[in-house]
Amino acid sequence: MAVDILLGLQWGDEGKGKVVDFLAPKYDLIARFQGGPNAGHTLEFDGHKHVLHQIPSGIFRDEQINLIGNGVVLDPVIFRKEVEALISKFKIDFKKKLFISKKTQLILPTHRLLDAAHEASKGNNKIGSTLKGIGPTYSDKIGRLGIRIGDILAPDFKERYRSLVNAHESQLKFYKFEYTLEETEKAFFEAIEFLKTFNLVDSEYFINDALNKGQKVLAEGAQGSLLDIDFGSYPFVTSSNTMSAGACTGLGVPPSKIGSVYGIFKAYCTRVGSGPFPTELSDATGEFMRKEGNEFGSTTGRPRRCGWLDIPSLKYAVMLNGVTHLLMMKADVLNKFEELLVCTHYKLEDGSIVDQIPYDIVRTNVTPVYKKFKGWNQDLSDVKTFEAMPQELVDYIAFVEQQLNVPISLISIGPDRTQTIVRDSEAVIL
Ligand code: GDP
Ligand code: IMO
Ligand code: MG
Repeated sequence: MAVDILLGLQWGDEGKGKVVDFLAPKYDLIARFQGGPNAGHTLEFDGHKHVLHQIPSGIFRDEQINLIGNGVVLDPVIFRKEVEALISKFKIDFKKKLFISKKTQLILPTHRLLDAAHEASKGNNKIGSTLKGIGPTYSDKIGRLGIRIGDILAPDFKERYRSLVNAHESQLKFYKFEYTLEETEKAFFEAIEFLKTFNLVDSEYFINDALNKGQKVLAEGAQGSLLDIDFGSYPFVTSSNTMSAGACTGLGVPPSKIGSVYGIFKAYCTRVGSGPFPTELSDATGEFMRKEGNEFGSTTGRPRRCGWLDIPSLKYAVMLNGVTHLLMMKADVLNKFEELLVCTHYKLEDGSIVDQIPYDIVRTNVTPVYKKFKGWNQDLSDVKTFEAMPQELVDYIAFVEQQLNVPISLISIGPDRTQTIVRDSEAVIL
């Protein structure tokens, strides 16, 4: 078993980028398996802060190879910008360090336009999409219309492109959506030429060969389990399987090769975009949390909605993913709270108290049932070991572990690589 998976258990932005970068030295290959430029994974080290959208978060480590898997959707224009920004700051040998699946689906300029047209047509019911063309690109993939990265090498690529764009334009006409394509198409075709200079591979062979040679792979999730297309708060979800099963289909590795599943969550909750959020704090406390956590989207800059930790939804995510280790992020954001609330159950309209997510959470009123905790109310910067943590934080961690029945192996107390406390060094360190 040599593919470990790291994924978010909430609504994304849990801190996956930081932790993938932290864990990367333990692995040979870091592989993204779904999502696209809707993701924004932040890494901080040696005074640098960097947000990655499509490139896996192992790219800053010297020894590791990175793979963009077949389950991903890739925008060549954003990819080019991302690579060029990295090259201007760091010495990264992309020829050696980055491989892209030929089966990765291409995001076309018209996919982005369609995303905007769909959202505009929904009015108040809009999903709050990042408008990166994610939904329309996955729709074309499932509808068997999409164009894959391997196709850019085919002699008739331009004709295939044109035929799909024609179909998109008739949809845009239907929506009466106004747009111009000329500039964006120019940038798109330049970016396609740029993309051709990268290692485009049959990634399912590439990754299985690596596994057969005894190499270790870390599959990096994007978004979070509560945004999963099947199990999230549909339709307020993204368009891919963000859960651990998605790593098998998104990389072409069999379930029997999966080892540890690292489930990452914030010590509280955030959500960006529309959709239900039972523990949301639409008051000064939520505002304070947003300020303390600097909760603004890494991709869109939108303020993130903030709220208390939600155990029923974490239980759900742990169940769906088969989480073997929990990693708790952003504990430091709660440093100044005298009192913390944790939602243990939901109260439904008929008065019943449950710890499961009701079928139609979008149309069901759920009231959180909270348990109160004393805050640690102290700065954590000097805390270097689990043993040195304040008792209130130890109690908070113990409660979550007991509720979820999975150990918390790592606690993050700041955005920098070094602000990480490993509790179970066998699980998360070389
Ligand atoms: P991702 O999408 O899961 O990779 O997460 P994002 O990068 O979108 O958002 C997480 C944000 O929290 C980033 O700005 C990180 O630098 C920051 N961050 C990560 N871990 C911690 C932590 O333990 N404490 C604090 N204060 N910030 C953190
Ligand atoms: P990372 O990987 C947080 C949200 C959007 C929107 C919904 C659908 O950084 O955790 P989409 O653009 O996918 O059609 O948007 O999903 N969303 C994210 N929220 N973090 C992300 O990625 C997200 N990617 C998409 O805000 O509500
Ligand atoms: Mg993010």
